[in-house]
Amino acid sequence: MDLRLDGKTALVTGGSRGIGKAIAKAFVESGAEVMITSRKAESCEETANEIGCLWEAGHVGNPEDAERIVGATVERLGGVDILVNNAGTGPYNGPVIDADLPRWNKTFEVNLTAPLVFSQLCWNQHMKENGGVIINIASVGGFGTHPHIGVYDISKAALIHLTKQLGAELGPQARVNVLCPGLVKTDLSRFLWEGDKGDEVAKMYPLERLGEVEDIAAAACWLAADSGQWITGQAIVLDGGGMVKFSE
Ligand SMILES: NC(=O)c1ccc[n+]([C@@H]2O[C@H](COP(=O)([O-])OP(=O)(O)OC[C@H]3O[C@@H](n4cnc5c(N)ncnc54)[C@H](OP(=O)(O)O)[C@@H]3O)[C@@H](O)[C@H]2O)c1
Repeated sequence: MDLRLDGKTALVTGGSRGIGKAIAKAFVESGAEVMITSRKAESCEETANEIGCLWEAGHVGNPEDAERIVGATVERLGGVDILVNNAGTGPYNGPVIDADLPRWNKTFEVNLTAPLVFSQLCWNQHMKENGGVIINIASVGGFGTHPHIGVYDISKAALIHLTKQLGAELGPQARVNVLCPGLVKTDLSRFLWEGDKGDEVAKMYPLERLGEVEDIAAAACWLAADSGQWITGQAIVLDGGGMVKFSE
């Protein structure tokens, strides 16, 4: 089964660091031409130079930026065969019942509305006619409840459902799937693994380690390539077995 992406073009949001950077790098190594985007132009440029791809800075939650980023991708790469909606945020920590609307709205703007807007743009400008693959990045949090990151979890649950809906709507031209990682060591999740906290979490996973960004990138390649050609509307959990651990 072919895991190569030769001749394919890809756009990865939040591609300057963490999981998005690993996915962009793996796509380049698999033969794709890649565009990355994130807010900070400097980090985009640095990463793009390091991994050998193009970049266009912007805020995924701003529809005008989204239009410019997808437009630049189509113009410079000739299309978008693969879209990875990876950029994510979790600005509010605390009980959902006390959540303030500005941070609630910001969470949904980046984690849910942006994936829809980017999917719409890529569909209308390329995938409707030429086919394509959309990969969303949610979280195992989208399946459960947690004391402090409930707002983030709700946005990821909605992203999982958006994936199912678009999977049903966009076939046979496009496949839409969502990867749901457990704890992966990145800047975003630092507050969950810093100090001894990471070891405590790892002990609860049957595979006894936290995720590496490459674990998520490998799954993204598998879904993006012909190996994933009969998979759509699916949520794929990558969590070292955390979801199936024995109940205490
Ligand atoms: N790490 C984990 O344990 C974990 C677990 C489950 C799911 N996830 C999900 O995986 C995805 C990637 O997370 P990560 O851990 O790799 O985070 P990260 O290391 O903090 O990287 C986030 C990336 O997104 C960009 N970004 C953030 N907000 C943006 C915005 N409004 N517009 C455009 N770009 C934006 C950042 O660059 P700029 O700052 O330059 O914008 C950066 O490139 C997220 O959707 C996250 O929810 C992570």
